[in-house]
Amino acid sequence: MSDLSFVRQQYLNYFKSLDHKIVPSAPLVPENDPSTLFTSAGMQSMIPYFFGAAHPEGKRVANSQKCFRADDIEEVGDNRHTTFFEMLGNWSFGDYFKKEQITFVFNFLVKELKLDPKKLYVSCFSGNKELGIERDNEAAELWQELFQSVGVEAKIIDNPEEAGLQDGKIYFYGEKKNWWSRSGVPVNMPVGEPGGPDSEIFYDFGEQDSDLARAMHAENPCHINCDCGRFLEIGNSVFMQYQKTNSGFVPLAQANIDFGGGLGRILAAYQNQPDVFKTDAFLPLIEKIQSFTSFSYDDQDKQKYFRVIADHMKAAVMLMSDGVFPSSKEQGYVLRRLLRRALRQAAYLEIKQETLVELVPSVVEIYADFYPQLKEQQAKISQVLADEQKKFSRSLSKGLKEFEKMLAQKSLFTAEIAFYLYESFGFPFELSLEEAKNRSLQIEEKIEEKYQSKKTFHSLNSKQGSQAQFKSGLADQGEMTTKYHTVTHLLHAALRQVLGDSVEQKGSNITAERLRFDFSHPKALTAVEKANVESLINEWIKADFEVDKQIMPKSEALKTGAVALFIDKYPDIVNVYSIGKNPSGNKKGEDFISRELCSGPHVERTGVIGEITLTKEKAVADGIRRIYALQKSA
Ligand code: ALA
Repeated sequence: MSDLSFVRQQYLNYFKSLDHKIVPSAPLVPENDPSTLFTSAGMQSMIPYFFGAAHPEGKRVANSQKCFRADDIEEVGDNRHTTFFEMLGNWSFGDYFKKEQITFVFNFLVKELKLDPKKLYVSCFSGNKELGIERDNEAAELWQELFQSVGVEAKIIDNPEEAGLQDGKIYFYGEKKNWWSRSGVPVNMPVGEPGGPDSEIFYDFGEQDSDLARAMHAENPCHINCDCGRFLEIGNSVFMQYQKTNSGFVPLAQANIDFGGGLGRILAAYQNQPDVFKTDAFLPLIEKIQSFTSFSYDDQDKQKYFRVIADHMKAAVMLMSDGVFPSSKEQGYVLRRLLRRALRQAAYLEIKQETLVELVPSVVEIYADFYPQLKEQQAKISQVLADEQKKFSRSLSKGLKEFEKMLAQKSLFTAEIAFYLYESFGFPFELSLEEAKNRSLQIEEKIEEKYQSKKTFHSLNSKQGSQAQFKSGLADQGEMTTKYHTVTHLLHAALRQVLGDSVEQKGSNITAERLRFDFSHPKALTAVEKANVESLINEWIKADFEVDKQIMPKSEALKTGAVALFIDKYPDIVNVYSIGKNPSGNKKGEDFISRELCSGPHVERTGVIGEITLTKEKAVADGIRRIYALQKSA
């Protein structure tokens, strides 16, 4: 058994022995959470249970959760950042709290994995008067007792960022470091979001003799959150006990525990190996890459390329195994970006692009014992990869020529050029930007925003174009899904009209055969409510309302009363779809049935949609219902 499998198994066994039910990993693409493209923390699928919903497995659960953090793509290259990782997690839903959690995690690391307690350090929340949240002396004292119980002196220290380590063990930090919520620090949290103070554990790899460390410490003293490479955060216990409201933080009805620790990082501590790429989680990949090139992984100039290729290829395989395939949209686009970035970096190690497909078996080797489906998927994944590689290689040399031209003319790298490279050669924006930076080209100001709005406009136009082209069987399918897309808006509006404005869309999924729609509502629909929703939709379809689309800045769109589900996720320029005049005028006196920010596509008039039947309606989580709608062919 590899050390990776061993550490994972030890963790799961340990929490099982503490009466936790071991639950499976949720997929990398969250099923009922359209607010985010990927699962990036183990707690993501656990939110309803912090609010008191009953988890089917009880109040104590644990797992190893596959996570992907697209935000970290550019960070990959140092000895610790990876985009894909497994997060070991344990949760208490209103059951045990701080004392038990801190003891559990200490015992797991020190007694089960036998890490040297002298190498462990911890942080606690220093409190915030404005938020009304107290300094977490309780956590600090619990840690102190535990360290002392194994004969390790544990001083508690304030202000480590300025004052440094000072021979301490337990350090207080503010909310930038020791507060956790899905949206980060308290000010960024939307109303309704749960969060709380946390306590992190760090492993000490010893002072680093590197240029980076020297440069950093010339300015500031080292402390446990310093990025010099000495300390690695290996776990975080979140005391998930507050909810943000309009008037500040209020305690949740129950105090919860949300623990997450990167398996790869805990493994690095277990192997006392500061470079996660040299642990069992990556070694087979690094060795394989090493066999393709005459450069050495230990060569400082080249190490970054080994790491990026290993990380991106692994993440790509894991994403594909959860059903993501390269495309120009959403998850598929992120995957394409990863693959193309890895393929591009192959050149820096003088590896032929097509060789990278041979890394698939190394990923399977690392994970197949825990994720057996990888073996079955291996051939398919390799095929998709090979196809994507061929597409990219055809366009790469042409794209690179464009860069050489720009360099020769000393021209500015603009959003327009980036968009051209994307359109003509499939260069993801981020890759173009990287190429431009590598060549020290001057970069247009606000290039990213400009690029995004170009892309939005373009995709709106091309959608209209392709709608006109629907002819074949495939086109019929496209037409059906477009109709369902419009039905989604009608259903959302009808639900709000019948059940009230507290109904909010939580997710949707459309196939050519049906629409699946998730929404917030505390109880099952009565037969009468369901019938009313259905007949409203059909009334609106029969009325043959126009579906009007307008493109405008996001800020303006919000003033028009448009419903925006996840406002931060929209680009600055958005399209707003409005449907029909409301015959009775709705409660707010608005003049339309439905108005939503949406990327479309939609039908032009509701009359082309067939009659709708609402079928199953059921609960998917506490307070979240799921309903299915079928369309009789028009
Ligand atoms: N949810 C916490 C984290 O991701 C444990 O760090």
